[in-house]
Amino acid sequence: MKAFVVDKYNKKGILRLAEMPEPVLQDSDVLVEIHAAGVNLLDSKIRTGEFKLILPYRRPLILGHDVAGTVIRVGSKVRKFKPGDDVYARPRDGRIGTFAEFIAMDEADVALKPKNLSMEEAASIPLVGLTAWQVLIERANLKKGQKVFIQAGSGGVGTFAIQLAKHLGATVATTAGAASADLVRGLGADVVVDYRKDDFEKVLSGYDVVLNSQDGKTLEKSLDVLKPGGKLISISGPTDPEFAREKGLNLVLRLILRLLSRAIRAKAKRRGVRFSFLFMGAQGDQLSKITSLIESGAIRPVVDRVFPFEATNEALAYVEGGRAKGKVVIKVR
Ligand SMILES: NC(=O)c1ccc[n+]([C@@H]2O[C@H](COP(=O)([O-])OP(=O)(O)OC[C@H]3O[C@@H](n4cnc5c(N)ncnc54)[C@H](OP(=O)(O)O)[C@@H]3O)[C@@H](O)[C@H]2O)c1
Repeated sequence: MKAFVVDKYNKKGILRLAEMPEPVLQDSDVLVEIHAAGVNLLDSKIRTGEFKLILPYRRPLILGHDVAGTVIRVGSKVRKFKPGDDVYARPRDGRIGTFAEFIAMDEADVALKPKNLSMEEAASIPLVGLTAWQVLIERANLKKGQKVFIQAGSGGVGTFAIQLAKHLGATVATTAGAASADLVRGLGADVVVDYRKDDFEKVLSGYDVVLNSQDGKTLEKSLDVLKPGGKLISISGPTDPEFAREKGLNLVLRLILRLLSRAIRAKAKRRGVRFSFLFMGAQGDQLSKITSLIESGAIRPVVDRVFPFEATNEALAYVEGGRAKGKVVIKVR
C-alpha cells in the first residue's frame, strides 16, 4: 500500500511516499480502508524527533494520528464492528499510521463515524475531540455555571473545546486574532480576547479552569486568570511527574520531566491552584459519546483545508505554519 513515512528524525525533512506492506490484523483489530486522515501538530513533533524519548518508534514510520474510513476485515475477537462499518479513530500510540491506504487498529480505539459528517469532516475530529473531552470532562470535571478559559479558540483543539464547554453549560473565554473573532463567537465563545492587541491576564479573572495550549509565558500568565482552587491544565507542556509515571518512563527521564515543570508547579501551589499536564490517549468509548454529540448537533467540525493525498507534505507544512482555522485534513480516497 502507499503511505507517507518518516525515514529519519529531521527538523526540516519531508515525508517520503513509500510502498509499505499492508498492516497485519491482530485478533482484536479492525482493518480499515482509509478515506481521510486528519493532520495534527503531533505529527510534526514526531517527525522532528521531539517526542522520541517519550514515544520511541522504529523507522520507517508511517505518520498520522487521525482517520476516517471503512472497516474491510475484523479479527476473531472483534465484537463491536463488522466489515462495511464507517468508523473513525485516533489509533493508540505505538500503532499510529493514518497517512496511508490502510490501517489496523484495536477495536477499543475505534467508534462509528457520525452519520451526518463526510469522511473528511469525521477525520478532523478524533485527536482534538478526545483532547478536549479528556481535559474538560475527565480532568477538570467542568460543570454548568463554571468559567473556562480556552486558549487559541480558532485552532484545532480550541474550535472543538469551545463547543464542548458550552455544551457542558460553562462560560467560555478564548483568545483569537481579530480575523477569527466571528468564528469563535459562532462556536459559542462568550468572551473573545484579541491576543495580538490585549493581555488576556488583565481582562479575565476568577476562572475555574484554563486549557493552556501555548508557550511557557502564556502558561505563567494563565495563573492570574484562575481563582483559588482553580485548575491549570496544559496540553503543550511542561510535562509533570504524573505523566512520567503513567508513561512508565525510566528514572532519569522521570527526573528530567519532573524538573521541567518544577517552577510552574511551585508557582501554582503558592496561588492555591492546581497545575497538571495532559497528554491525550486513544479512547473509542469516549469517541462514541462524541459521535452522539455531533449527531445531535451540539458540536460541528471546523475544517480549514482539505489536501489531496499526494500533497500530504504540504498539508503538514500548512499546519506547522500555525495559522490554521480549525482542522486540516488529507483526502486519501
Ligand atoms: N497534549 C495533548 O494531548 C495535545 C493534544 C492536541 C494538541 N496539543 C498541542 O496543543 C497545541 C495546539 O494544538 P492545535 O492543534 O489546536 O493547534 P493549531 O490548530 O495548529 O493552532 C493554530 C491556531 O492557533 C491560533 N494561535 C496561534 N498563536 C496564538 C496565540 N498566541 N494565542 C491565541 N491563538 C493563537 C492561530 O490563530 P491566528 O491565525 O489568529 O494566529 C490558529 O488558528 C499544539 O502545541 C499541540 O501540539 C497537545
